[in-house]
Amino acid sequence: MRNKISAYLSDISRIHHRAAFTDVKHHTNPKTTLFAKLVRKRSSCRKFSDAPVFDEEISQIIEVARLAPSAKNLQPVHVWVVRSPEAMEKLKTATTSLYGAPVVFMVGCKSEEAWVRECDGKNGAETDAAIVGTHILLQAKALKLGSVWVGSFDPAKIKEAFPETAGWEITALFPVGHPAKDATPSPMHDKRKSAEEFSSEL
Ligand SMILES: Cc1cc2nc3c(=O)[nH]c(=O)nc-3n(C[C@H](O)[C@H](O)[C@H](O)COP(=O)(O)O)c2cc1C
Repeated sequence: MRNKISAYLSDISRIHHRAAFTDVKHHTNPKTTLFAKLVRKRSSCRKFSDAPVFDEEISQIIEVARLAPSAKNLQPVHVWVVRSPEAMEKLKTATTSLYGAPVVFMVGCKSEEAWVRECDGKNGAETDAAIVGTHILLQAKALKLGSVWVGSFDPAKIKEAFPETAGWEITALFPVGHPAKDATPSPMHDKRKSAEEFSSEL
């Protein structure tokens, strides 16, 4: 009798699970979750005001970046905060894409410290650094700050300007600050592949 009841309950839970999965959009509309709203609201900011970013906001961004997952949890990533006038001037020798931001998060990775896929030798360092960068962009948005991913910089000039980064490969810069009053998303922001083109079922 007990076996029959537990089989029945397990069947019900399986059916419920299947229904919840296939009908997931009726339960949690992806447009209405807090996370989806945050993602929809984020866009690259390329014009910042002079308003400062507070230490607490910088700490919160670093903390969320620190929690990023990494392959085999090896965490081969480092983040430098650039904000003193001297450091900012040095960074400007390596890029023209800081857009007047009061603070820049500089992300680097070390391939020697990263997971390597055995079958083909693919190194995970840059992927791990990209996840850290994504956390930075989204936490900045959560704090109502603007940010942009900058890949356009001269790595050799960064090495020269910041000897502290020796041994690290700089993967991206993230200028962060309050968007200027007249800052607007670029037309590229609205251009995304359709859901059909982007994803398919196998
Ligand atoms: C890997 C990567 C590198 C990027 N490099 C730059 C850059 O050097 N300068 C810049 O202004 N934007 C850069 N971007 C921002 C993209 O242009 C932007 O994310 C894209 O056009 C979509 O617009 P959105 O962020 O407003 O949605 C980069 C983004 C990524 C992911």
